[in-house]
Amino acid sequence: MRPTTALVAAGVLASGASAENYLGFNSGSTKADRSAKFKADFEAEFKTAQGLENAPGKFNAVRLYTNIQAYSQDDPIEAFDAAMGTDTKILLGIWTSGTDSIDKELSALKKAVDKHGKKFTDLVIGMSIGSEDLYRVSETGIKNKAGVGAGPDVLVKFIEQYKKQFSGTGLSSVPIGHVDTWDAWTNGTNKAVIDAVDWVGVDEYPYYENGKGNGIKNSGTLFDRAFNAVSGVVGDKPIWVTETGWPATGPAWDQAVASVENAQYYWQEVGCRKLFNKVPTFWYNLRDSNPDNEMKFAITNNLSTKPLFDLTCPTKFDTPTAVPTTGSPAATGSATGVSAPGSSSTGSSSGTGTGTGTGSGAQAANPSPTGSGAYMGKSLSAAAVASLALVAGIFALF
Ligand SMILES: *[C@@H]1O[C@H](CO)[C@@H](O)[C@H](O)[C@H]1NC(C)=O
Ligand SMILES: *[C@@H]1O[C@H](CO)[C@@H](O)[C@H](O)[C@H]1NC(C)=O
Repeated sequence: MRPTTALVAAGVLASGASAENYLGFNSGSTKADRSAKFKADFEAEFKTAQGLENAPGKFNAVRLYTNIQAYSQDDPIEAFDAAMGTDTKILLGIWTSGTDSIDKELSALKKAVDKHGKKFTDLVIGMSIGSEDLYRVSETGIKNKAGVGAGPDVLVKFIEQYKKQFSGTGLSSVPIGHVDTWDAWTNGTNKAVIDAVDWVGVDEYPYYENGKGNGIKNSGTLFDRAFNAVSGVVGDKPIWVTETGWPATGPAWDQAVASVENAQYYWQEVGCRKLFNKVPTFWYNLRDSNPDNEMKFAITNNLSTKPLFDLTCPTKFDTPTAVPTTGSPAATGSATGVSAPGSSSTGSSSGTGTGTGTGSGAQAANPSPTGSGAYMGKSLSAAAVASLALVAGIFALF
């Protein structure tokens, strides 16, 4: 990460918020049965996150995928109330695929700002306009039938719209980002998005990097390679790791095996070695919410503060430190992209996979089950996909 001062000097950021290495999880708007999460559900998550035994820091931040409460048109998501009650920092999200309007997202957010003022806005650490939209329109995303995405022009337009509408409010100094898979960022066609944001959100899942030697012992190296590739193209913009994790259960993916033991190894080699207290990090995940994803990423059962494995960070690591720094090698891998599950996902809640979704529209529907991105892309309309996103978390398959 680069010093915040550089950003300030550049006039990009008014606050020093990005200098803080937030620790948090992802949280969609619905639960594993696709029903809406309400204030008490979010509160339970936030309390568990803050109370996790042997955590290497306080997990008191959350990444949301939408501002809209599920089952409503444009009411603010009740996660905001839960965050205010538990002093949880909020990375806001707006769903931008499959829609030509983010008006409802903005309307829900404005209601929260008007109603709560500083009590709310002081907790907001960032705004992400979009989630893996570029991945879904990339060659890999299309090949994997990851669902409806959006190109760089659409994202830049929505970023401008949000900025205009919230300038002069309590959110005007909140840094704006976009979240996508690492190979979307290294694709030069998307550079306008890098130019438009204050920080770059990266989703990385070595687990899903089939064809690249994705066994658990190589996960740290695959992570570093992708991270460094992004670093090589973003200039001074800080990188936030917005989704990463390894499933504790589920089917194998090429050489990657889901197990509690491997989830712990990944926590140590990627979380402890590379991310925690070094890079703003939103782990995937505290709780699963996508019933259609066979891979389960939750680090705890039923929101217990005693996780599936000991979260204590070791002092020695296996991953070799010498990793190529340049971007391209990693990028090339494109074949598999990294997408994470999250990406396309939707989100919901907990998701499963990764992603979470968002979506706008989402509220209502919770459509379907899907699981793989592929299925969705084929069978659902864009609107449905957006909604799903909110709800379920679709995974992008590669
Ligand atoms: C690069 O990005 C553009 C625009 O998002 C996309 O159309 C193209 O497919 C991407 N290239 C690859 C190799 O995925
Ligand atoms: C989680 O809670 C459900 C419902 O209360 C219960 O049936 C299940 O056994 C619990 N699972 C674990 C692992 O504690």
